[in-house]
Amino acid sequence: MTKPIWIKHAAQLATLASDVKGPRTKEGMSDLGVIEDGSLWIEDGIIQAVGTTEELEKRYSERLHEAEIVNAMNHLVTPGLVDPHTHVVYGGSREREFEMRLQGATYMDIMNAGGGIHATTRMTREATEDELIEQTTRRLDSFLAHGVTTVEGKSGYGMNLETELKQLRVMKRLQEQHMIDIVPTFMGAHAVPPEYKGREDEFVDYLIHNMLPVVAEEKLAEFNDVFCEKGVYTPEQSERILEAGKQFGLIPKIHADEIEPYGGAELAAKVGAISAEHLLKASEEGIKAMAKSGTIACLLPATALYLREEAALGRKMIDEGVAVAISTDCNPGSSPTTSMPLVMNLACISMRLTPAEALTAATYNAACAINRQEQVGSLEVGKQADIVLWKTKSYQELQYLFGVNHVKSVWKKGVKVV
Ligand code: NIG
Ligand code: FE
Repeated sequence: MTKPIWIKHAAQLATLASDVKGPRTKEGMSDLGVIEDGSLWIEDGIIQAVGTTEELEKRYSERLHEAEIVNAMNHLVTPGLVDPHTHVVYGGSREREFEMRLQGATYMDIMNAGGGIHATTRMTREATEDELIEQTTRRLDSFLAHGVTTVEGKSGYGMNLETELKQLRVMKRLQEQHMIDIVPTFMGAHAVPPEYKGREDEFVDYLIHNMLPVVAEEKLAEFNDVFCEKGVYTPEQSERILEAGKQFGLIPKIHADEIEPYGGAELAAKVGAISAEHLLKASEEGIKAMAKSGTIACLLPATALYLREEAALGRKMIDEGVAVAISTDCNPGSSPTTSMPLVMNLACISMRLTPAEALTAATYNAACAINRQEQVGSLEVGKQADIVLWKTKSYQELQYLFGVNHVKSVWKKGVKVV
């Protein structure tokens, strides 16, 4: 039996608890359920009680001496951050492309010339499972250091069965050996593999008949994602892939309208995707359709910044009733970062989310985007004790003092990891 942990006197305990079940929209995104002089009692990795310090002191008066006490006076306490969109398992690195883009090359130019996703695919195909474990572990450690306790991870740097499975198996092993929770997504349609150039439909057939069944059979993924973009997969091809995945129980996600408006948001609503990603160029109709279908907009403001593009219309999406989540998009090309705190800052600065909305987008709504809202994303009795103690005194200050890692301590399932 481990000692109970008693966190007390938090200046703000942002619980994110609410009676609303499912993704928060509109005003719901501003309701953080803040308790002043807040307190948590943790036992066996689970949150046992949430309230004011006075309430918990009374309730546990007989057992206070057993507990390890964490004095959070003058500090903010929040749920562990959730990153619902990463490409964290990959081989190699692409700093040369960063320079090329600064000199004027575009992301798509580089990719069409065999670089970009294709370069990482070559390096990932060459890497052994152990090498990928080693590189990914370093990135996951960095996520934890930035207060992130759950990440989604996508395959997609294989684009052949062998390497897609290798990436997914790496995630499975990491789920067993790393403290962070990692939620797997199959993204075999991340680009058109060079050996199928000009024969995209054949690759779609191959993916549907030869890859999806194996991924499902081995239970290696929960979600199925596709890069629906001009020059990559058309909305029709994307729909075929996502509908086929549904037959195998894989929930659809879509990289939609990132570079050009292409009907991706509309398609997300049509196929009942849990989330649509990027959406920099989403159409007015697409945004409306997502609000109606309840598809979560997973917005990636660090990617927009890194590609020197205008950010997605996060403010407008919230005002139109779309549930917004945010994510790093951690990948070696368009967003090599593991900093969710930076992403929260950018959500405020470049998409005009309020500090409260940005925190909801990085916790509860992010958990909803990967179907983990029953376990993580808020501080409620019965949930995993995934908790961040910040150096700042309030969530407002956390979003205001930007570009800095304000993490003081992190607990994952009740174990102190930072
Ligand atoms: O989400 N847009 C496609 N995929 C990734 C980038 C992957 C890469 O450049 O390696 C993204 O931005
Ligand atoms: Fe992505």
